[in-house]
Amino acid sequence: MNVRFDPATRLRGTITPPADKSISHRAALLGAMAAEPVRIHRYLHAADTHSTLAAMRALGALVEVQGEDVTIRGTGLREAAPVEGPIDVGNAGTLMRLLPGWLAGQDGRSYTLDGDASIRRRPIDRIATPLRAMGATIEATRGAVPPFTVHGTRLQGTEYVLPVASAQVKSCVLLAGLTAAGSTTVREPAPSRDHTERMLLAAGVPVTRAGDAITVASQDELAFDAITVPGDLSSAAFLIAAGLLVPGSRLLLEGVNTNWTRTGFVRIAERMGAIVLGALEQPGAELSPGEPAGDLDVAAGPLVGTVVEAGEVPLAIDELPLVALLGCFAEGETVVRGAGELRVKESDRIATVVEGLRGLGADIEATGDGFAVQGGGGLRGGALHAHGDHRLAMLGAVAGLASREGVEVVGMEAADVSYPGFAADVAALV
Ligand code: S3P
Repeated sequence: MNVRFDPATRLRGTITPPADKSISHRAALLGAMAAEPVRIHRYLHAADTHSTLAAMRALGALVEVQGEDVTIRGTGLREAAPVEGPIDVGNAGTLMRLLPGWLAGQDGRSYTLDGDASIRRRPIDRIATPLRAMGATIEATRGAVPPFTVHGTRLQGTEYVLPVASAQVKSCVLLAGLTAAGSTTVREPAPSRDHTERMLLAAGVPVTRAGDAITVASQDELAFDAITVPGDLSSAAFLIAAGLLVPGSRLLLEGVNTNWTRTGFVRIAERMGAIVLGALEQPGAELSPGEPAGDLDVAAGPLVGTVVEAGEVPLAIDELPLVALLGCFAEGETVVRGAGELRVKESDRIATVVEGLRGLGADIEATGDGFAVQGGGGLRGGALHAHGDHRLAMLGAVAGLASREGVEVVGMEAADVSYPGFAADVAALV
């Protein structure tokens, strides 16, 4: 589906961005691992998180959808049902990387995971290595990618040092740690999103964080009250960028997750001169159960270039395409370094962002682990191909609103993976 986004004169209004994708995936998964029913308030109803509900059903959980809410009656930690044929993760990298942490502890049962064409290009050795160290057997296509099979066993706890900061890999190992004998520690080279740790704390698991080390121990069961999912900062970020770039704009975004491990993009934008008012959690805040949420008030204004270094990357990983877009409109140079992980997202986001924005008139170069933008010229407009990547599709839309001639997004339906109401929300603001 091709959709045109014309230049906008000013954006005004109030939007409640969709529920958080990362937190919804985790709520469904931990709900299925729990012994008692869990009610999830404001689950994300989008393609990715529906893949997770389908997978949990296949594994024996009862899933009931009541409007925006979902109730899950789980199987317990060690009683996932056997599944005939592959579990389809669709386009969901988070499901593909977290679920094996649970499955690896299902003694004597084997599970195969597969997904769409993008999933079949995404590496799984990063989870296979620690799960093998804990005792599981993993067989992957060409030793590296889906479809892959996890043979569950009685796991042993481990201490695993992540070679690259990744919340997905950290979460996978922590979930495996719940069924493994003894304790399991993950060390991360830089902080990454901590939703799994917070949700486990809320489920009564004594998770500790000391410096770069996160530790869990073997559990009998998880016990939740209800889980409430806040708005997704990564989805809100597209509207924040639109509000910053379209002259005269003023937007209010309600109920957004303000967890400090997710708000790196707001701090980068503020360094570029952006005005975003709202009570964000302080960076480095102590680990606590639950997720903070708040309202963000965004106003357009002039921006200057900035440099994003490796340590900041995990806290803004999914928003780095938007940093490139802001860079096109900012005075001077904007550089992102240490972001080689972008190459293994839903698309190679260094290649697709650079090619996409260059086609709209940007002065942008790819580097091995990021990109450099010479800003100030704004964007002419043209066509941008989403390459089946939801964040590329929404990037093209925001670029169109801020451009001189508008942008035709080729493959706009990709946005349904995380933000099915995106085009309608944009239309409401124009
Ligand atoms: C996610 C972690 C990040 C992020 C992805 C969601 C998560 O991936 O890019 O969209 O929910 O844990 P990595 O762990 O590969 O950095």
